[in-house]
Amino acid sequence: MPTTCVVGILWGDEGKGKVIDYLAAETDFVVRYGGGHNAGHTLVLPTGKLVLHLIPSGIVHPHTVNVIGNGVVVDPVHLVGEVDKLRQRGLDVRLGHNLLVSERAHVIVEAHRRQDLWAEAQRGDGKIGTTGRGIGPAYADRCGRVGLRMGDLLRPERLRDACAAFAAHKNAWFGPAGLAPVDAAALAAELLAAGETLRAGIVDAGAALRRAQADGKRILLEGAQGCLLDLEQGTYPYVTSSHASTGGAFPGTGLPPHAMRVVGIAKAYATRVGAGPFPTELKDALGDTLRIAGNEFGSTTGRPRRCGWFDTVAVRYSGAVSGASELVLTNLDVLKGFGPLRLCVAYRLPDGTRTTEFPAFDLEGAVPEFVDLPGFTEDVRAVRRFEDLPANARAYVQAIEQRTGIPVRTISVGPERQQVILR
Ligand code: IMP
Repeated sequence: MPTTCVVGILWGDEGKGKVIDYLAAETDFVVRYGGGHNAGHTLVLPTGKLVLHLIPSGIVHPHTVNVIGNGVVVDPVHLVGEVDKLRQRGLDVRLGHNLLVSERAHVIVEAHRRQDLWAEAQRGDGKIGTTGRGIGPAYADRCGRVGLRMGDLLRPERLRDACAAFAAHKNAWFGPAGLAPVDAAALAAELLAAGETLRAGIVDAGAALRRAQADGKRILLEGAQGCLLDLEQGTYPYVTSSHASTGGAFPGTGLPPHAMRVVGIAKAYATRVGAGPFPTELKDALGDTLRIAGNEFGSTTGRPRRCGWFDTVAVRYSGAVSGASELVLTNLDVLKGFGPLRLCVAYRLPDGTRTTEFPAFDLEGAVPEFVDLPGFTEDVRAVRRFEDLPANARAYVQAIEQRTGIPVRTISVGPERQQVILR
C-alpha cells in the first residue's frame, strides 16, 4: 500500500519523529496533516539531535518532498525561523521543491498566542495546560470562518482586507477582556513579509498530493500529537484542537479516503504533558525515576512529562479508532531495571463497575487494574533481533500484543536511527 499514516497512540511524545525518519528513507512524500508548532518531533541524526515543530520529519532525507497540509495551523513567522534553523544545520530546504505549504492552511498570528494564554488564565483550576502556541484559537477562527489562510499572504489587497476584518472581530472583545488590540496594518505588514519569504512554497498542496498518489508515489502521513489528544476521540476537554487521529488525515491533506497502512506508535510505558485524566500515572518516586530514565521533558515547552504504566485499555481503544494494524513500541530500553512491569488491563469506574472499554466520561476517577510481569535488568540498546531480547522483555512485548490485539512489528531500543528491532 503506497500510503502510510504514522499516528501517536496515546497523548503524543511517543517517538513519532524517529519512526518517520526511519520510514521516510523509503518514501517520496512526507506530509503533516494537523496540529502546528505545538508538536516537537525529535530526530537523532549522525550530526546530533534535531527537533522539528512544523516541518515534516522527511526533510532530512534529500529525496523526499515535505508537505505542510491544509489541516495544519501555520505560524508563518515561526516557519520562516524553522527553515532558517534547518539551513544553518546544513540541510537543503528548498521552498517549492522539497518543502510545500498548503495555500489552504490556516495561519496562527500573535493575537492567537495571546488569546491562548488568556483563555488558560480564565480556566483557573481547569487549565488544559496548552503549549501556549495559539493552536486552539487559530482552529476556533477557522471554524468561525474568520481565519486567515496561507494563500492570503500572497495576495496583498485581499490580505489587508482580511486583516482588517480579523482585527475588527478580535478587537470587539479583546479590549473589554483586557487584551491589547490587534493592529490590522502591522499584522498585514508582518504577514506580507513572511509571505514574500515563503512565496515559492505556498501551493495547492492537495492537488500535488492527489497527483502523486495517482502516479503511485509513496506517501507518508505524519501524525502530530496522539489519538487521545484528538479533539473528538480524545479525553475532551483535555485535548488539542485538531483531529490528531488518522481520521484527520483526509480533510487535513485533500487526499481521498483510500485504504492505507496505519502504524500506531506507542511508548513501552505511558506519558502525558499538560492536564487531564491519566489512569496509570505514577505520582510517586518511581514516576520521577522513569521521567529521568526516559528523559521525559517536553521537546516544545520543556515541561516535565507525567509518566505511568502501559495502558492496554487505552491502546486498544486508540488502535481501534485510528485503524492501526501494527504497533511500533518505542523506549523499551528505558524500562531496564523497572520490574515488575505493570500492564493496565481494566478500569474500575467511580460507580464501581469494571470496564475494559475506554470511557468518554469518568476517566478521572478510574482506578486501573494491573497484571504484573517480571522486569529485565539487561541493557537492550544493542539488541537488533527480537530473539536476542531478554526473555522477560519478550514476554512483556508479547503480553502487550495479546492484550491490545495489535501486533508489535517494530521495537525501538534507543534514540538513534539504527537502534531498532524489526520483526
Ligand atoms: P495545545 O495543542 O497547545 O492547545 O495543547 C492542548 C493539549 O495538548 C495540552 O495538554 C498539551 O500539552 C498537549 N499537546 C499539544 N501538542 C503536544 C505534543 O506535540 N505532544 C504532547 N502533548 C501535546
